[in-house]
Amino acid sequence: MPETLRVGIAGAGFAARFHWKGYRKVYGVPLQVVGVTSKTAASREAFGREFGCRAFASFEELCEQSDVVDICAPGFLHERLAVAALERGKHVIIEKPFTGYYGPDGAKEEAFCGNTFPKEVMLREALASCHRMLEAARKSGKRLGYAENWVYAPAIQKEREILEKTGGQILWLMGDESHSGSHSPYYGIWRFSGGGAIVGKGCHPLTAALYLKRAERPSANGQPIRPATVSARTHEITRLPAFRDAGCLRTNYEDIEDYGQMHVTFTDGTVADIFATELVLGGVHNWLEVFANNHRTRCNLNPINAVETYNPREELFRDIYVTEKIGTKQGWSQPAPDEDWQHGYPQEFQDFAESFYQDREPQASGELARDTVAVLYSAYLSAERHGAEVAVPLSADGVN
Ligand SMILES: NC(=O)c1ccc[n+]([C@@H]2O[C@H](COP(=O)([O-])OP(=O)(O)OC[C@H]3O[C@@H](n4cnc5c(N)ncnc54)[C@H](O)[C@@H]3O)[C@@H](O)[C@H]2O)c1
Repeated sequence: MPETLRVGIAGAGFAARFHWKGYRKVYGVPLQVVGVTSKTAASREAFGREFGCRAFASFEELCEQSDVVDICAPGFLHERLAVAALERGKHVIIEKPFTGYYGPDGAKEEAFCGNTFPKEVMLREALASCHRMLEAARKSGKRLGYAENWVYAPAIQKEREILEKTGGQILWLMGDESHSGSHSPYYGIWRFSGGGAIVGKGCHPLTAALYLKRAERPSANGQPIRPATVSARTHEITRLPAFRDAGCLRTNYEDIEDYGQMHVTFTDGTVADIFATELVLGGVHNWLEVFANNHRTRCNLNPINAVETYNPREELFRDIYVTEKIGTKQGWSQPAPDEDWQHGYPQEFQDFAESFYQDREPQASGELARDTVAVLYSAYLSAERHGAEVAVPLSADGVN
């Protein structure tokens, strides 16, 4: 292992910024962010200037100077960039969604419509993509970190501790990630994002649920508890002819759902209900409730009520950050004292840095990411069948 872990970031947008901030807080592992690359010279140079790191003109140059490549680019690029970095012998961190289905190779852009495209093909191809990424990691002997911050959120980690120390069994989980609409111009177009609310938001509480069920005492056969089936519905509420646009929600989605719900059963027969929407005002709405045989825990990621404040005039709070996607700062609000911390970002980069340095699996591993993708795309298949139950493919090659 090199003396200093050199990290290169692919992408210079929203995620790249909070990743950079997360790396600054890593302790006990010598780590340096060497630089960034992105699609346009303007965006990477602006990022380099703001954060004092190098702007690399190409992904290859970034790889050359890095021990870890952190992929903060849109989902349709994740597999390509991850495999390229692994083949160059680099550890890889991948933002959510781990991977997915982004349309047939070579299809004309306008010819692919994600919401009507056959979901059986999508599921098969998304799992094949996971398989190629996990295989590339195995062959290279390098680590894959899945940047699912919910795994590292203090509220979820507290529940993991409760589960482990009390030997509890989770019977039912219910969770949600929702807000008023994603900011990224890539989001809303399936060929860039790999899906809508289910993939873009549902992935978060879903992975946390899968993680907690894995953290439970293994089943009688010693195997971790994994997802078994899913029944799902998706809707496109802001594109309904009857939708009345009051100007409060993002509405310009091309071919994705803005509402999704998944009912997941696990291999031990217990269940989870996960919601994900672009329809919620009042800031991000991120929570997971755990109903166990010996306790009940409400994991609030955002908002939390560590601070409650009343602001009589909007302009008074002009320079004060309240919470993600809050909309208005007037009236009562619950400003986040440290939103990155409550979302688990610094903890995530700490775990990745240690796992690469100590050569161990990160808590948010490629295997967990693969199960997440398997549930998400099985959910789309179920939704295509109007909610019929679909078996989640569990084996490495996608065949049960
Ligand atoms: N975990 C979270 O809470 C969270 C939050 C937001 C986004 N994300 C994920 O992060 C990823 C990026 O999303 P974002 O919101 O930062 O999007 P964004 O649109 O803000 O930024 C995307 C960046 O990728 C760059 N890019 C495009 N093509 C590239 C290429 N070929 N090589 C290198 N860079 C390229 C763009 O130039 C841009 O800088 C997505 O996978 C998204 O789902 C995760």
